Order: sequence, then C-alpha cells, then structure tokens
Amino acid sequence: MMSRPVSKPRPVRRAHTFEGSTLYPSRKTSLIEDARRDSSSSSVDIWGPFGLPSPTEHDDVFSEGTEEVTNLVNGDIPKRLCVSFSSRGDAGFASLAKAVKVFEMTKTKLIHVESRASAANDGFEFLVQVDAKSCIVRSLLASLKKTVDSVVLHTEEVPKRAIWFPRHISDLDKCTHLTMSYEPDLDNDHPGFTDKEYRTRRTEIASIAFQYKYGKHIEKVSYNESEIQTWGYVYRQLQQLFTTHACKEHVTAFSELENVGLYSPDFIPQLEDVSNFLKAKTGFQLRPVAGLLTARDFLASLAFRVFQTTQYIRHSSSPMHTPEPDCCHELLGHIPMLANSEFAQFSQEIGLASLGVSDDDITKLATLYWFTVEFGLCREGEQVRAYGAGLLSAPGELMYALSDQPEHRPFQPAKVAIQEYQDKNYQSVYFVSESFEDTKQKLRSFANSMTRNFEVRYDPFKQTIIPLDTLDNVRDTVRDLKAHITTVTSALEKITMH
Ligand SMILES: [Fe+2]
Repeated sequence: MMSRPVSKPRPVRRAHTFEGSTLYPSRKTSLIEDARRDSSSSSVDIWGPFGLPSPTEHDDVFSEGTEEVTNLVNGDIPKRLCVSFSSRGDAGFASLAKAVKVFEMTKTKLIHVESRASAANDGFEFLVQVDAKSCIVRSLLASLKKTVDSVVLHTEEVPKRAIWFPRHISDLDKCTHLTMSYEPDLDNDHPGFTDKEYRTRRTEIASIAFQYKYGKHIEKVSYNESEIQTWGYVYRQLQQLFTTHACKEHVTAFSELENVGLYSPDFIPQLEDVSNFLKAKTGFQLRPVAGLLTARDFLASLAFRVFQTTQYIRHSSSPMHTPEPDCCHELLGHIPMLANSEFAQFSQEIGLASLGVSDDDITKLATLYWFTVEFGLCREGEQVRAYGAGLLSAPGELMYALSDQPEHRPFQPAKVAIQEYQDKNYQSVYFVSESFEDTKQKLRSFANSMTRNFEVRYDPFKQTIIPLDTLDNVRDTVRDLKAHITTVTSALEKITMH
C-alpha cells in the first residue's frame, strides 16, 4: 500500500494487495494464469473427483467389447450423462423398460428419452439423458451393459471444471502466487529501484516467506537501526492522527497493542508475536508473504482467518510512500482492525465468498475489498472515520479522505463492486459503512447473487472449508446449528429464571 507525503503528493502508482482486472491488465493476466494453473493442477485424476476407483485390468465393467465406452469414460465424465443403447427385434421396448428399471434402482433421474428404428438391424436405438450421482456412474453403466446392447456413454454436457480452492488451512501453502508488479527490481517507480543494498535486504527478508510452511513459527527479522528509524517516523506521524481520524475499533486495538508492549515506535513488532495476539483476540493469524499476492490467493487465506503479511519495510528515503505493502502498512493499518471481532468476521466473509468463484467475481470481490478493508470509511454518530488500512497507514490520504474534497457515498456492494478506482492518486470517491454488521449483511446478500452454485462454511475445529453441496454436509451443518440453538435456548431460560 502506498502512502504519500502530506504536503506533496506525487502521482505514483498505488500498490495494493489487489488490482482490479478490468482496470489493471496485469491483475487480469495474473488471474487468468492462476485459473489455468489451478485447472491443470486439479485435472490429474479424472476418477478421483467423482469418487470412482480407477479402472483396473481385472475390472469387468467395460471388458466386453465396449471400447467406445471406455474411451468416453476416460475422457470427461459429467454428472448429467447422455447414454445410447440398442436392442434387437421384439426385445426393443422391453429393453427400454429394463433400462428404466436400472435407473430406478440406482436412483438415476431420467431427463429425456429418444428412440428410433435401427438402421443396422430390426431393433431400436435409444438415446437417454440422465442425471446420475457421480459415485454410481460405473455401476450404472455396468448394469446397463448387462441389460441392453451396445452401451455408449456420450459426453453431451461437459460442465466447467470446478475451480480449485484450499480446503484445509495447510492448503494455503499453495496460495502464494505473487503478482511481482511493484517489486523494486521490476518497478522503476520504486524508491529502492536504484539501491542494490535495499533490494538485497528486501530479498533476504522475503526469503522467510518463501520458506514458510503451515504450522511453522514465523522466523524473526533482526531489523537494523535504519529500518527501525523509518518505522518510528511513520509510527509517530500516524499516531498523531489516529484519535481524530481512525474509527474507535482501531483506536481501541492500537492502544491495547501498545499497552501489552507489542507496539512502540522504538522497535518493529515481530509477526509471530502479533499473530499470537490476534489469535487470542479474534482467531486471525498471520502468515509471512514475500510481496503482492494475487487476489484469489489473498482472499482465500481470509476464509481461514489467515492474513498474509509482509515483513520488509519501505525504503528509508521515502518513509511516507511505498508502492507495495510493507510492515508499516500491515502492522499500523491492518492489524488493529483484525483485532476487532466484527471486522474479523467481515473480513472472513469476503474470503469465504471468494472460494471457487469465477475470475469476474474475484475482481468484484477484490474491488469490494479495496473500498472497504483498504479504503473504507464508517459512520460514528455525526462523524465519519476511517477503518481502511490504506488510509490508516497513509497520513496524506487519511486527511484527504475525511475532508470535504472527495465524494462520500453509502456502502452498496453492487455499486462498489464495479466502481472504478485510482492507482495513481487519491480516490475520488469513498464508501461509508453504517456498521461492520450492516456491511457484512450487505456483502453476504451480494455474494449470494454471484455465480457460485454452492455455499461454504468454515469448520474452525478442523480448520477446514466445508462446501455445502451435498445433503450430508448440509445435515451436518444443521446438526451443529441445532446444538447451538439448544445451548442458547437453555441460556435464555436460565437468565430469565434468575
Ligand atoms: Fe493492505
């Protein structure tokens, strides 16, 4: 995230965890590459996704002159199947009846039937379209083969392959794709572009993130005197503004971080210590990251209440400006907000909404993230305050955003998601939330309008995402809800009795 000099803002590129694809070609390219990579990585075993055992040489299902079936099955099996078969002579419609019986027995839904006289013999040919559970496809075909002749499975409808997303928190080890857009080696706007020593130091610190794996402690960084001076300067500049410009949730958490000895202008906090603090407050934890992540990977981590955090610090020559997120932006802007329960819940909701959605929907969610978590304003009585980390780590834009210069609009997700945004100067418009609860509810409604055709929930005990795409998974969720409702009902009774 970029911050700018208060008195002399200069039109440089704004770094951010995300860049909207329609406005930022590099972002779009990156997402498309991600999607391709994800697709290819999840397409190794076509049997696995449908719960089918791989065929073996002893398999008797496709062993009787059914090359055509084998070939098609080894291609791409949809849940909606199109199957043709034939029969000879008088057995014609009797065979259809037998096939229908097979569908009944396997709880396969018959969608469509066509028949025609066979050109090859005096029998009939049938074409049926069915919806079959993926787990019974093989037994269905085997049963048909025993019942009728010349069974051929056609791939009439090939659904889009599901977009991979992490299921367990350890899967975040695979969610580390960097955009590389604002790295000092590549971006000649970067203040460290000509400073070889800075670039070497940044790479050294970033290597901690490259080596990090789920479950490990985050390696400490031994910051040097120059880095601590930069931190202290930024810290003091922002600290002066927080009580008058930051939302009460940020002010409260920042004070607590100072009171417990984690925050001070005199040293740069270590991520492991801050992560432990957050875990106890809201269940959020930190994971080191080497630079700007792709939107899909970054949002996915939020679903697990994991915040991917940089450890290096901006260049000392430009303490109020950085074209990429650094520890000042993360620790002074984001962390205090993530210590608030409602905001943590809201952040996780964005992450959950992002799992398995299309690139277009990722772009919308990234834009929503931009105008809330990074540049959001909120109402506090008659006042408007900032809760976005991009503002809370940039004194110049923090004062500008709360002045009468930019436009303030109410938070409406459908409009926010397509709002154009700036990467070369301050925003022209900021969105004002009534409360985090209100913003969360609106976000949830908006997420329901997206193209994903299943819901997900997070199981904090197993640190696992559960797609609610089967009756069993929904039943498990209802069972958990019933247990909660029973507890709450009992609590209410006990409270009202005393
Ligand atoms: Fe950020």
